[in-house]
Amino acid sequence: MTFSPAPSTTPDSYSWFAHALLAWYPRHRRDLPWRHTRDPYLIWLSEVILQQTRVKQGLPYYLTFSQNYPTVQALAAAPPDEVLRHWQGLGYYSRARNMHHTAQQVVSEFGGQFPGSYTELLQLKGVGQYTAAAVASFAYDEQVAVLDGNVFRVLARVFGLAHDIAAPASRRKFQQLADQLIPAEHPAEFNQAIMEFGALQCTPAKPDCMFCPLQSRCFAFQHGLVAELPVKSKAKAARIRYFHYLVLRHADTVYLRKRGPKDIWEGLYDFALHETESADLTGAELLAAVEQLGGRVATDRAEEPAVAARHVLSHQKVEARFHEVWLAEPLPDLASAAGLAAYQSAEIEQLPKSILITNYISNKRI
Ligand code: ADE
Ligand code: SF4
Repeated sequence: MTFSPAPSTTPDSYSWFAHALLAWYPRHRRDLPWRHTRDPYLIWLSEVILQQTRVKQGLPYYLTFSQNYPTVQALAAAPPDEVLRHWQGLGYYSRARNMHHTAQQVVSEFGGQFPGSYTELLQLKGVGQYTAAAVASFAYDEQVAVLDGNVFRVLARVFGLAHDIAAPASRRKFQQLADQLIPAEHPAEFNQAIMEFGALQCTPAKPDCMFCPLQSRCFAFQHGLVAELPVKSKAKAARIRYFHYLVLRHADTVYLRKRGPKDIWEGLYDFALHETESADLTGAELLAAVEQLGGRVATDRAEEPAVAARHVLSHQKVEARFHEVWLAEPLPDLASAAGLAAYQSAEIEQLPKSILITNYISNKRI
């Protein structure tokens, strides 16, 4: 999709919108740390964290990252596992890896300077239209409109756009409108304002229409369509997966491995995994899975019941069972072919892990 630049002056027929938002914003805005900087690196960092994350949830992560990695050089030089460890709990771990790559690209290809315009920012791997527009406007005051879920909702309601916001083809319609609305003066404030307006006033459920400065011009309000807009088609049902984790233990060690590419949780650590088509695993199947790794089950320990847990991702539901297995002796070398290695509990604490694994470990006090 190409970007069409906004006209240099906003048509008067639309200026009421920017005026209303720019009047609303200073009276309602939240005081957030990334609103006190013009450093493109810190702004980019905040936007990467805030994509698909609420401000309340993202804020502590922003503080952690900006304190541990105050410059793009510091982030680029950090060990990948450390970056993932700090990201732990935010989900969408590929974003953390992409963020790290982008930082390295800024250092290696741009001499550590963030590109200085929307078009140049788009050259960075992993920087899409939204992030490029956010950084270009907030850091450089460039007149490029941001489009995120909040902006889609506000525009759909106020201007009565019924295009499906889940369909990629709709983006052009919304972008055209947003490009006409963003004023040449204060484009950064305008972008912050429209997002904040969507987050605080024109919320997905129960927007505050009664005390809304746009009420008299809002298409959705005037036509009784607030609940109907924006139009969003339903996502496909999530795929259900059944994970049987073999929590292999010997003496004071537990076997873990780093997850490979092309699946969820790439680069995070978990246990030996036996994935099946259904929720149940018989004792014989469990034993066979352990034996395939060359493991011999200790006979002097009572078997504990499996621990069940569930983790919901955007396109998948993981139904997990954790089967604790005490081994009679350490795993033979062939286990390392499966990526498994023995760790003590203090080491496990430091490894990047999904929340599913972290919760299991803390409940079990491993
Ligand atoms: N969500 C995405 N970007 C944001 C920002 N800059 N401020 C508040 N919420 C946001
Ligand atoms: Fe949103 Fe309601 Fe205001 Fe319209 S009147 S902009 S739907 S809060």
